[in-house]
Amino acid sequence: MQRVLLLGGSGILGSEVLLLLQNQNIDYVAPTSSDLDITDKDKVFKFVSDFRPTWIINCAAWTNVDGAESSFEDAIKLNEIAVGNVGVAADLFECKVIHISTDYVFDGESSEPYLETSQVHPLNKYGESKLLGEQALLEALPSAFVVRTSWLYGVSGKNFVKTIAGKALRREDAKVVSDQVGSPTSARDLAIGILSILKNQPEPGIYNYSNRGSCSWFELAQKIYEIVGANNGLVHPISSGSLSFIAKRPKYSLLSKEKWLSAGLSEVPNWEDSLQLIMPEIISELQ
Ligand SMILES: NC(=O)c1ccc[n+]([C@@H]2O[C@H](COP(=O)([O-])OP(=O)(O)OC[C@H]3O[C@@H](n4cnc5c(N)ncnc54)[C@H](OP(=O)(O)O)[C@@H]3O)[C@@H](O)[C@H]2O)c1
Repeated sequence: MQRVLLLGGSGILGSEVLLLLQNQNIDYVAPTSSDLDITDKDKVFKFVSDFRPTWIINCAAWTNVDGAESSFEDAIKLNEIAVGNVGVAADLFECKVIHISTDYVFDGESSEPYLETSQVHPLNKYGESKLLGEQALLEALPSAFVVRTSWLYGVSGKNFVKTIAGKALRREDAKVVSDQVGSPTSARDLAIGILSILKNQPEPGIYNYSNRGSCSWFELAQKIYEIVGANNGLVHPISSGSLSFIAKRPKYSLLSKEKWLSAGLSEVPNWEDSLQLIMPEIISELQ
């Protein structure tokens, strides 16, 4: 029987993985960050040694993109050093690892979907810390799985879809960037994808996963207003240059899912279908 140690089980993605684990015949444990701070190497080793997981699913991360510019050392502690230590512990206690990474390892200058083998070049410190984490993990545990995803949203935690849905429910205006293109990814779909790795055990390495299709943040916001039943004329396009974000963001974030699909992993639903499906839960969470 599989034994899963889930890290980051309270986050946008981790909470969806946790829901799935609860409904499967899988023995699991999902310590909170206060039960197990993964930046504490000794505690990670002790936990893995005691629980003896067959898999570690790491959804824990420093995800404050702008904050990483001024707190790079803290981002590195969690996104690089801790991830490397998880790899060393997994190697020692012979378990497999699925770790989540990001489209922000790319600079967004491409005009076609990024492959797993495309040249990496992060534009910001968060992307840099995540790239270093991928490298630290794969060095410690070459058989690890790294899943790069983009524009993640879900019912739990703070995310763009929830923020915009809140504005739509209040019938407020929203100014939204129209010159960055990507694929919104439902955390629920990615959680299914993560468990498909666990079940199918494809070749180890890096895999891309995001929902099918693409849009700008502006188009995504318009779609959210439509689903909520609000006038999408309340959504106004702006350029990213007019915003004072501390960290630079890639203007193009599409990820190719060819490798994922050829490996026989989970289906990749269209972003609009997945958004439509989960919006009632997001709306009731906000009300
Ligand atoms: N959000 C996005 O748009 C996006 C896009 C691409 C890739 N990703 C990647 O997807 C993964 C999941 O992201 P997410 O948005 O679901 O993250 P999130 O909602 O910000 O959750 C982060 C999780 O990490 C945990 N954590 C933080 N510090 C920890 C520590 N020292 N020890 C143990 N756990 C700790 C948090 O626990 P507490 O709640 O207790 O702090 C929380 O459960 C991450 O690897 C992220 O880089 C995210």
